[in-house]
Amino acid sequence: MRTETESAPGSDAAAAEGPGCLMSRRHFLLTSGAATFTVMVVLNPGTPHAATVPGLVATYPRKLVARLSQLRQDQPVDFTYPDEGAHAESMLVKLGVRAGGGIGPAEDVVAFNYTCTHQGGPLSGTYKPADKALGPCPLHLSTYDLTRHGILISGQAYQSLPQVLLTLDGDDIYATGIFGLMFGRYDNLAG
Ligand code: FES
Repeated sequence: MRTETESAPGSDAAAAEGPGCLMSRRHFLLTSGAATFTVMVVLNPGTPHAATVPGLVATYPRKLVARLSQLRQDQPVDFTYPDEGAHAESMLVKLGVRAGGGIGPAEDVVAFNYTCTHQGGPLSGTYKPADKALGPCPLHLSTYDLTRHGILISGQAYQSLPQVLLTLDGDDIYATGIFGLMFGRYDNLAG
């Protein structure tokens, strides 16, 4: 974990840094592991209660997880994200049908965390090609729809499965974030 201090865009401090510093910082954030940095935020602008306070911003690591040309429909690829800690096991799959958050020419490549949001049951090995779903969970049978951001189809969970956000860069597929809170964590980046 790294900590940096960054000036608010457009501020005098930011202008004084010059474009060279800004590019190098962005490059650092895009190519390193998870990082945090501080931005100055104006609260209640234009009111008597206006105040400038520091705000902590967390960024996810950018991790190469697969290559588009090597994917086979309905054959999951396992990886861990955003770290190697508890409940980081995840999967990526080319569904063959368009999906929410899907990438690639057919918008059918998605990725999800493998841990059931109910009580942490393992969903590895439960992918169902016919339903484009993960589950049923071996503990209490929750099943999640991978075409609709991991929403619950059936079972006892009440939260969707966290979706790993993907970015395509040429043939390379990168994990770049997580939509939803992973089971067992108060913060996805604090594994
Ligand atoms: S832990 Fe998965 S349904 Fe309960």
